[in-house]
Amino acid sequence: MSTFKKHIEQYRTGYLEELKLVKTSGDLEVFRIKHLSRQGLLSDIMNKLKKLDLEEKKIVGPLINTLKKELQSSFTEREHQFKQEQFAAEKLKTKNFDVTAYKPFELQGSLHPYTLVVEQAEDIFLSMGYDIVDGPEVEQEFYNFEALNIPPDHPARDMQDTFWLTLPEYLMRTHTSSVEIHTMKSRKPPIAIVVPGRAYRNEATDASHDFMFMQLEGLFIDKNVSLAQLIATMKMFLQTFFEKKDLSLQLRPSYFPFVEPGVEIDMTCPFCTDGCSVCSRTKWIEICGAGLTHPNVLKACGLDPKKYSGFAFGFGLTRLAMLKYGITDIRLLHSNKLNFLKQF
Ligand code: FA5
Repeated sequence: MSTFKKHIEQYRTGYLEELKLVKTSGDLEVFRIKHLSRQGLLSDIMNKLKKLDLEEKKIVGPLINTLKKELQSSFTEREHQFKQEQFAAEKLKTKNFDVTAYKPFELQGSLHPYTLVVEQAEDIFLSMGYDIVDGPEVEQEFYNFEALNIPPDHPARDMQDTFWLTLPEYLMRTHTSSVEIHTMKSRKPPIAIVVPGRAYRNEATDASHDFMFMQLEGLFIDKNVSLAQLIATMKMFLQTFFEKKDLSLQLRPSYFPFVEPGVEIDMTCPFCTDGCSVCSRTKWIEICGAGLTHPNVLKACGLDPKKYSGFAFGFGLTRLAMLKYGITDIRLLHSNKLNFLKQF
């Protein structure tokens, strides 16, 4: 009996000494398993209690209960102490952490090449006294075709494959020329506008054609407007846009029902002097459709063709972006590929 009591006392002293030596929370867990788990040393002592007779149990039982409580509470105290030490260490680590410190973004956004060319084209035309005008992309047949001297059944409608909407007489505009009509109907001459915007065509895509692309329409209406003014305006715009002073233009006759005469304008290749792959070794690059506004168009907008004349032009802005930045496939512009976009 006294041996058992002595054993308990020895175990108690050893337990407390060993607990003092525990240095890490990992070691503390090892200590817990050794002493306080179901197969631990404390359970051993309690199992031995079962073998004692009743009288002995009455004396030793309360001693073991007190021992168990004391050992468990000293363990909890040490555990708590560890948690506090750990917390203090974490706090020290973040003591000098400045939440307002600037961290540069690793992935910075950039402007889409369309935005870059639109902004640049707008700046150039604004400096020449032009207004920037917007118009609807879902358009009525009248503005996209009829008022532009392209009546129903006119073969010129086949020049631009159209996305028709189920709503009768509505379509996705095939060109920004439709905004010429909106403007001439709502403003009085002199009119000088440019219209950057999307156009839609129901056609198969390839490296230089998409079903949606950007155009830049221009319109100038006043008295005695001439082709010479159109050429001077185009030249000024293109020289500034491509930053090349010795850029020349050539006009080739072409057909657009809303201008007479109609022309296509080529510019000398801004990338070479004696032919390269961009200009297919011709030294010339086709750049836009243009011409003097057809009298029927002026009439459709309530303007007297005897009094007023004008010129109009329509650039493929997509083409300009491709030339400016050396983009070889138009579909890249709508691909949202980060590797492509990050270059701008
Ligand atoms: C027109 O759209 C006329 N409205 C232009 C015009 C305006 C002529 C004013 C006269 C006076 P065209 O269909 O050629 O014309 O298109 C003009 C430019 O848009 C083309 O030179 C080309 O650069 C671009 N373009 C046409 N179709 C596509 C397409 N599917 N994908 C990309 N760009 C295109």
